[in-house]
Amino acid sequence: MPRVDYALLNRQLASLLDTRDWLTNCAQTCAFIQHALDELNWVGFYLHRQPNQLCLGPFQGKPACHPIPFSKGVCGAAARQQATQRIDDVHTIADHIACDAASRSELVVPIMADSHLWGVLDLDSPQHGRFSQEDQAGIEAFVATFIRQTDLPHLIE
Ligand code: SME
Repeated sequence: MPRVDYALLNRQLASLLDTRDWLTNCAQTCAFIQHALDELNWVGFYLHRQPNQLCLGPFQGKPACHPIPFSKGVCGAAARQQATQRIDDVHTIADHIACDAASRSELVVPIMADSHLWGVLDLDSPQHGRFSQEDQAGIEAFVATFIRQTDLPHLIE
């Protein structure tokens, strides 16, 4: 796979996110990533709208699991640990939540608003080991752009 120019993509994402609105920016961000990167079968947001639970937000791909408790899956681990999860083979993760049986590798980046977990961005791929450290750094930079250019109100009911 050719090397991806994450710096260029990040500048394009920054100019796409020209509203401060979180819903619009979530929708634009996952559509942008889905079209910019190869070998993805799902890209989307899970939002921290209920205590210790993630609620499905805007996404690209097949209908997905909802809700996801913090205690389960790769997304739950990202929320609990407030740390990126980069999984080469989701079959090795005992409590992985298989929304789409085609998914093989996964990258989940937490989205922090101040020191509060606002949500996570989840990417799935049908390819084993799809996400390198370079991809992780690139996607984390996308999330930093999203956070910088978006008003992130507390969504917890
Ligand atoms: N696989 C995730 C669940 C979300 S779907 O991939 C869209 C997990 O284990 O948390």
